[in-house]
Amino acid sequence: MNTLVVGMQWGDEGKGKIIDYLCRDKDIVVRFQGGNNAGHTVVVGDRKFIFHLIPSGILRKGKICAIGNGVVIDPKVLIEEIQYLNKAGIKISSKNLRISAFAHVIMPYHRIMDGLREQNRVQKIGTTQRGIGPCYVDKAARSGIRMVDLISPEAFALKLKDNLHEKNSLFGDVYGINTFSFQDIYNEYAAYARILAPYICDLTEFFYDQRKKKYLFEGAQGTFLDVDFGTYPFVTSSHTVSGNANLGSGLPFIKIDEMVGIAKAYTTRVGEGPFPTELVDDVGGFFRKKGKEFGATTGRPRRCGWLDLVLLKRAKIINNINRMIITKLDILDEIAELQVCVKYKQGGRLLKSFPFDLARIEPVYEKIKGWGKNIENMRRYNQLPREAKNYIGRIEEFLSCKISYVSVGEQRDAIIKKTV
Ligand code: GDP
Ligand code: IMO
Ligand code: MG
Repeated sequence: MNTLVVGMQWGDEGKGKIIDYLCRDKDIVVRFQGGNNAGHTVVVGDRKFIFHLIPSGILRKGKICAIGNGVVIDPKVLIEEIQYLNKAGIKISSKNLRISAFAHVIMPYHRIMDGLREQNRVQKIGTTQRGIGPCYVDKAARSGIRMVDLISPEAFALKLKDNLHEKNSLFGDVYGINTFSFQDIYNEYAAYARILAPYICDLTEFFYDQRKKKYLFEGAQGTFLDVDFGTYPFVTSSHTVSGNANLGSGLPFIKIDEMVGIAKAYTTRVGEGPFPTELVDDVGGFFRKKGKEFGATTGRPRRCGWLDLVLLKRAKIINNINRMIITKLDILDEIAELQVCVKYKQGGRLLKSFPFDLARIEPVYEKIKGWGKNIENMRRYNQLPREAKNYIGRIEEFLSCKISYVSVGEQRDAIIKKTV
């Protein structure tokens, strides 16, 4: 059985924890898009691991983790992640980590461009400023530098020269800032190339012979950050939806048997953009505090709000989701009366279709009684308070989609299987 895990909201749904859990009976875990804008957290006892590029399956012994062609790689961040894991006793080698030769490389000018673009925009996006967008722009413009170019000194020198020719005049003339030195960048990146070379391969060829193995595809970001299907322009620059999994991993011969959608029991978003159920009151503040809703990558406070079922239904369709996992149900423990959005209104009128733009949407709420009990230590579904099961049941009913697990705490084992 090959499985895909995709976020159904605006990211940070708890994908890292769920990947770490679901990969127990998989052989290979593959990231297929995004870059180190992602922050995937796995908590094991008193240790907290935050992965930006390496798939969250890396903590489990015997799993092969792969970074696909659809990912953009900041080599410095990747090397730091490898070193951090090695120090933590998780031995990283080409036996458990593989990187696609076709993945594009984030260069210093991409990070600077990300910041400059953001500064100069009237309508800010609130990017992570990791250079993700500009790197994908160069990929589409055919100016990008790929991992395979990085490890070939001649190709790298040629491509870097070409890029600096363009970037130095652009940065100097348009933005009036200092230019980049060819030699400095070349030396820095050549050193990265030496460290990463053993991991780089043709993933398609590497995995073709292993096509009977069990695969887990790890989505980054979330459905509404998809460059086409998200709340454009307040999105990331890649396709976060399930349709990109085969393409972005370079494994067209792997049939994905189940699309698992991950949704938090409430909603969060980092950065700018519309968010119909956002709460700017004490309840929003409560979610942020109890749910530790601060970006795993940038540390920015996450915006918080009620669960939006209309949004989830759209995510179900876009990703062709077969089953769902709900995370952070424990954060709702103390709330006496919960609300979930079941309809959208605009200008006082109920909408029949999912809107093209989520700005100026008025959410219509349904109230659901809370459970007022600590559920973090519960491990069986029938232990959960009736009201918590009602909440889960309402999500299933609204989406016509079964929920297979409910996560009730950040610890690895704080998860409850629900028979579907
Ligand atoms: P991701 O980007 O989707 O992997 O999610 P993040 O790691 O950015 O954010 C999810 C946060 O919630 C992390 O700090 C997790 O440790 C934490 N988390 C995941 N599941 C649960 C849960 O069920 N309950 C609680 N309290 N925390 C959780
Ligand atoms: P994970 O994988 C939450 C958001 C940024 C910004 C927008 C564009 O941990 O769920 P970018 O730097 O990608 O150009 O920023 O996307 N964003 C995320 N929000 N979780 C993420 O990843 C995100 N990755 C990007 O905050 O609004
Ligand atoms: Mg995250």
